Amino acid sequence: MKRYFVANWKMYLSVAKSEQLIRQLIRYERGNKILRDIEIIVAPSMLALSSVSALVKQSRSKIKIAAQDCGIADAGAFTGGISSSELKKMGARYVIIGHAERRQFFNEDAMMLSKKISAAHKAGLGIIYCVGETQDERHAARAGEVVREQLRVVQGVTPALIAYEPRWAIGTGLAIEPHEAEHMHASIAREVRGVPICYGGSVNEKNIAAFINLENTRGVLVGSASTTFVGCSEMLGRMSKIIQAKAI
Ligand code: PGA
Repeated sequence: MKRYFVANWKMYLSVAKSEQLIRQLIRYERGNKILRDIEIIVAPSMLALSSVSALVKQSRSKIKIAAQDCGIADAGAFTGGISSSELKKMGARYVIIGHAERRQFFNEDAMMLSKKISAAHKAGLGIIYCVGETQDERHAARAGEVVREQLRVVQGVTPALIAYEPRWAIGTGLAIEPHEAEHMHASIAREVRGVPICYGGSVNEKNIAAFINLENTRGVLVGSASTTFVGCSEMLGRMSKIIQAKAI
């Protein structure tokens, strides 16, 4: 069974630092056969995507590239827009849609997200669709309902991955309790059958094992802890040990 490690570099790294980190990851991936069952997906900033993707391609690495966003249409009068088919040509295999930061800081609502999903789908990009409730919604016992509503946006298109990322756990150092993540993943799995589910929100080398061990969890989406080589290699090392132990 394939597992996923999605490194979302957000806007943390310069183009030069992104290129440096991908070179290190390519070497690491090549030298570690145990990573065979893990699909490593790197989402560099939009400005670094082309050169990071070229480095992956040149080295024939198995690392996959994801864009952190795409436009609502593929071409036309959309100043600042990002064409999904051009992303594909640049080497992106996936695109992250519905990330909490896009919803919060860029006011991306269901209507906009569904346009992005359809543009990305038409261009042949795999969709990594993010869902997750706010702290208030969780306290009001509305987490399940909110996530189900967010999942409605991907109806009709099968995403490549669903990332459950409670908004209050992103970038705060406060990951959700693994059993609570599992509870949500099980309910997502009932809604979107057959789509691998990843957990995201303050994942790091200390807590990754607990999430990888969950039954309905096929991987992780990692932000800040994935922006250093030490962070990535430690998390991948722990992940592969668990996968191997499970295979025995
Ligand atoms: P974090 O971000 O790991 O820094 O909390 C996760 C994400 O937003 O994808």
